[in-house]
Amino acid sequence: MSVNSTKPERKLAWVTGASAGIGRALALRLVRAGYSVVVTARSHEKLVELQQEAAGEGRITVLDGDVTDPDDMERVMAAIEYDHGHLALVVLNAGVALSVRGDDLHREAFETSFAVNVNGVVNCLLPAVAHMKAQGHGHIAIVSSAAGYGGLPTSAAYGASKAALINMAESLKFDLDRIGIRLQIICPGFVDTPGTARIRFPRPAMLSADEAADRIVAGLKSKRFEIAFPRHFAYAVKLMRLLPYGLYFGLLKWLTAGSAEAAGPAKRAGPGERRHQAV
Ligand SMILES: NC(=O)c1ccc[n+]([C@@H]2O[C@H](COP(=O)([O-])OP(=O)(O)OC[C@H]3O[C@@H](n4cnc5c(N)ncnc54)[C@H](OP(=O)(O)O)[C@@H]3O)[C@@H](O)[C@H]2O)c1
Repeated sequence: MSVNSTKPERKLAWVTGASAGIGRALALRLVRAGYSVVVTARSHEKLVELQQEAAGEGRITVLDGDVTDPDDMERVMAAIEYDHGHLALVVLNAGVALSVRGDDLHREAFETSFAVNVNGVVNCLLPAVAHMKAQGHGHIAIVSSAAGYGGLPTSAAYGASKAALINMAESLKFDLDRIGIRLQIICPGFVDTPGTARIRFPRPAMLSADEAADRIVAGLKSKRFEIAFPRHFAYAVKLMRLLPYGLYFGLLKWLTAGSAEAAGPAKRAGPGERRHQAV
């Protein structure tokens, strides 16, 4: 694996969704770990701010792009090939956290969650895998969530999109292993980021974005397929998933009792207001 590299030349990493939160913190950590980093998101100004913050420590290249646009992602990959040659690591982190309630279903939450969180990953995977297959090696990490382990209140769109990523990664691993591409899935618990700042229910075992980035960099160095953190939180959610449904639903109802989003009356978000989802 490349994070430990002792070679003098800097390897290249590409991080999507690097304008804020986990992606931003991770891009800075990767620079400090010895990578040159290409950062992608839609907010150009924020990416340039990140680039300036990293100046002096290493090289960050800004390539704006919307992960829901396959042409944009092909263009980013072509620019990487042209400017840098070899891509060692891709972290597919861009995502949206939209909540939806069964008594207030709205199409947009499902369409956006799958467009960004699932198809956005596919739009990056296609050119990245083609590039890494041609060079004979590479390392890809996909950011899912502990919400992908099982159904949680208000998580029908977000959780389903993250579950799809876990299944997708498990499936792809068989073939990517054979062509020398290492694949990992990243499943964070709660992380304090702009994307989750407006969540109104308790977020147990929450980490800062910097702590999350540290866990991810350590996980990228490991041989594990899954990078799940905080460990005790991930194990607890996984263990809950093994319970019979009666106990699973009962326990979740008890744990989320008093949560405005999960238990209160359905309230539609106003225009432009984002609905935020746990983990
Ligand atoms: N925070 C948590 O508690 C938590 C827990 C588990 C998993 N995760 C996952 O971790 C990842 C990062 O989460 P976060 O909390 O750091 O989110 P965040 O603070 O909301 O940041 C999301 C990032 O994704 C980018 N993004 C969103 N839509 C995009 C699009 N269409 N094209 C390109 N970039 C796009 C945003 O940039 P622009 O808006 O500038 O495009 C931003 O850089 C997500 O996949 C999330 O599901 C988060």
